[in-house]
Amino acid sequence: QKKVTLLGLQNLYNSNTPITSITAHDYPSAVVAEKAGVDMILVGDSLAMVALGYNNTNMLSLDEMLYHCRAVARGAKRPLLVADLTFGSYEISPEQALESSIRLVKEGNMEAVKLEGGREMVPTIKKITNAGIPVLGHIGLTPQRSTSLSGFRVQGKSIEDAQALIEDAQALQEAGCFAIVLEAVPDALGRIITEKLQVPTIGIGAGADCSGQILVQLDMLGQFDKFTPRFVKKYAQNYETNVAALQEYVSDVRARAFPAEEHVYKMNGDILAKLQT
Ligand code: KIV
Ligand code: NA
Repeated sequence: QKKVTLLGLQNLYNSNTPITSITAHDYPSAVVAEKAGVDMILVGDSLAMVALGYNNTNMLSLDEMLYHCRAVARGAKRPLLVADLTFGSYEISPEQALESSIRLVKEGNMEAVKLEGGREMVPTIKKITNAGIPVLGHIGLTPQRSTSLSGFRVQGKSIEDAQALIEDAQALQEAGCFAIVLEAVPDALGRIITEKLQVPTIGIGAGADCSGQILVQLDMLGQFDKFTPRFVKKYAQNYETNVAALQEYVSDVRARAFPAEEHVYKMNGDILAKLQT
């Protein structure tokens, strides 16, 4: 299968083929994403919560993000590789954002970056794209701003909020975003924004009419045990499966049922006889 490029995503969009995307945060999660044939991998800062146990995404440093990006890049080559700009690594100035984006490309082996925010991010997006680094937008529920949003809540339900999100989406498109993530908005608003834009929308809790979908891999695999948002479909129950497997291992070891004959190395009989004299 051939490498997914921006043009490749554009072709999917033009032919009305849904764009498939998933997060990855390490080597094995990148390997399975590529094997499953996703078009785009996001090294999302959600890894702070689902893979590192932080209480929110804002605890994650750019250096920690870079460490995970390198592991993901070793595991997957074909999908477009996008990384989140971490909280604090891009808000101070467009220059700071460009510097952090360059690190994600040079040190993290990523191909594009994602940042949260609406029209206020336009100068930043222009700065990054002018340097040749593609930018994925992200509006609606923006977890880095969850305190200002009073928690992880659906966005764009009032007329004012919905209109603001439509204007933000258009501003991000004009600034040069190659696509825009819409998180946790009513499905009708997801459809309206998707219809108004000429770049793909990537929905997560934004309904079936977005140009593509994304989920957090450990959420959809049922590995994250803390909570599950409404928009997550659990395609596996890995938390339960993995706990059961480890419990079986623990009881096998205690019962001396593991290791069995097929798991042990045998010594040459003559050498063993000499060893025992
Ligand atoms: O961090 C993340 O995983 C994300 C996606 C949910 C869009 O930003
Ligand atoms: Na994120």
